Amino acid sequence: MTLQFRRLTVLFLAGSLLLALLQLSLPALAAEKLQVYKSPYCGCCEAWVDHMRAAGFAVEVHDVEDLTEIKQSHGITPDLASCHTAVLGDYVIEGHVPAQDVARLLEATPQAKGLAVPGMPLGSPGMEQGERSQPYDVIVFTDSGRQAVFARH
Ligand code: CU
Ligand code: CU
Repeated sequence: MTLQFRRLTVLFLAGSLLLALLQLSLPALAAEKLQVYKSPYCGCCEAWVDHMRAAGFAVEVHDVEDLTEIKQSHGITPDLASCHTAVLGDYVIEGHVPAQDVARLLEATPQAKGLAVPGMPLGSPGMEQGERSQPYDVIVFTDSGRQAVFARH
């Protein structure tokens, strides 16, 4: 075997290993069900659940009349609050967070409490109203109340 060929073989093996690892991480993502707490009368919550399911997340929906306690116990302060609260493993997802950002959170696994899209910005997943949309940020927040911008849309 020439040295060059050996190098190629090593590269190929490293590539296959990386692929195998990536494939391993996908079922791990799907293994955790997204637990969604929402009001039974919330239409945009249902639309967000559809968006997450379409992106491949397994979702379990819990209809709750009063979300105050769920929000409080998961560290959702009024400035972060939206219509629904979701739990995915150790993370909390508040409001109309795009599925791609939740996937990125699971990839990056930052030391954080979770992600939030405060309020209900038009054009966010589940809040589509024709062509109307407004810019919004996805906020990453910690237990201690620290906040940073995770994504801008
Ligand atoms: Cu909503
Ligand atoms: Cu909602």
